[in-house]
Amino acid sequence: MANTVIIKKKIKSFKEKISVPGDKSLSIRWILFSSLASGNSIAKNLLKSEDVLSTINAVRKLGIKVELKKNYCKIYGQGIEGYKYKNNITINAGNSGTLGRLLLGLLINSPLSIKLIGDKSLSRRDFKRISDPLSKFGAKFQLNKNHGLPLRIVGTKELKPIFFDEKKGSAQCKSAVIFGGLRTKGKTLIKAKKSRNHTEILCKYLNLPIKIKNKSNFDLIEISKAKKIKPINYKIPSDVSSAAFFLVLTALTKKSELVIKNVNINPSRIGIITILKKMGVVIKFLNKKNYKGEKVADIKVISPKSLKSINCPTSLNSGAIDEFLIIFLVAAKANGISYFKGLNELNKKESPRLKLGSDILNKMGIKTITSNNSIKIFGNPNLSINKKIVIKDFLKDHRIFMTSIIAALSFGGDWTIHDKDSIKTSFPSFLNILNKFLKL
Ligand code: S3P
Repeated sequence: MANTVIIKKKIKSFKEKISVPGDKSLSIRWILFSSLASGNSIAKNLLKSEDVLSTINAVRKLGIKVELKKNYCKIYGQGIEGYKYKNNITINAGNSGTLGRLLLGLLINSPLSIKLIGDKSLSRRDFKRISDPLSKFGAKFQLNKNHGLPLRIVGTKELKPIFFDEKKGSAQCKSAVIFGGLRTKGKTLIKAKKSRNHTEILCKYLNLPIKIKNKSNFDLIEISKAKKIKPINYKIPSDVSSAAFFLVLTALTKKSELVIKNVNINPSRIGIITILKKMGVVIKFLNKKNYKGEKVADIKVISPKSLKSINCPTSLNSGAIDEFLIIFLVAAKANGISYFKGLNELNKKESPRLKLGSDILNKMGIKTITSNNSIKIFGNPNLSINKKIVIKDFLKDHRIFMTSIIAALSFGGDWTIHDKDSIKTSFPSFLNILNKFLKL
């Protein structure tokens, strides 16, 4: 079966240095900003995954020329009002919630009707969370009764600024409203629960009209209409959410050590590092630097002799939101019961991750108590699996696939893991990188 991976052997100790591909959130944002710039922008180390290719195709549909080469990507921005397209076009966001939601923020001033579609997983995700605030600007939406895709947006030139109380900690909702604010005369105000802040950092770097006040539990963001966006040449740092799989593989493999080069360590993204450190993993940042407002470093991780359980503070949830599946594996091997709570957003991702993550742990012989927003994991430091495990029917969620591979390599057993293609979404070279030092 070409789309299935079979693993029957545990990994041996290793000492390696690797790189992982460019950050997905930054790659998508760079494309969207550059598509509105006055002039040409070039990115190096852009992530070449399906979510990013869907973003390139989306701006191409809006009339923007994009040149995608092996070593760079060039976008020929036509200015902030430079999108040119016909009425009733269809844009396919594929699997990408980030593309689907952020793009809508940029389209609220377009009087032509646009249909947004996505794959099976994206179509079941909630778009009301974004049509609600964007409607307040004046854009009109047609949503189906499940609030998923397909949807239709018709924007307007008569936009009004809004106040948006963002309570979910969703960077996608916050960013879409920032984009809306950049298109709207007057002051748009967002009170946003903490979430990744790449959009704000890029706005500041581009000298766009944004003011931010950081409070302890939320940020106050004020945005006004942007007159012009300058082109942006960017070398995308590596994605900590991709690095996460290798951090955990190292943490779970005796006497191992790994350095992952040039990773984006934006404080709003590194919840996993705080959590792993609390669980006893040694992690250091080397060669720290600032890059266009983002923090970047090499991450060095050393496997510990033993792992401690954690009662994970909810303040770490947003910074680790894409990493919980892989963190659950660490809890499976920790000494004691780990508790993760306030995770109602987790079942709203590419798949119901809290439920499916718990199912995988149960298949591995780990006891869990799971509700719709929390999980207790009864760790077993001596966990060693000797049975057949099959992982399938997970809505092709890339992070479920990669988590299962790491579990198989760390705990043993005879694993059959379906839907290998899912890695194309975020990390197409995942298995190649593993192969390099594991000889799978
Ligand atoms: C993202 C925000 C998060 C995250 C997603 C990427 C972004 O989603 O899970 O993978 O780039 O803005 P939410 O905004 O739904 O929390």
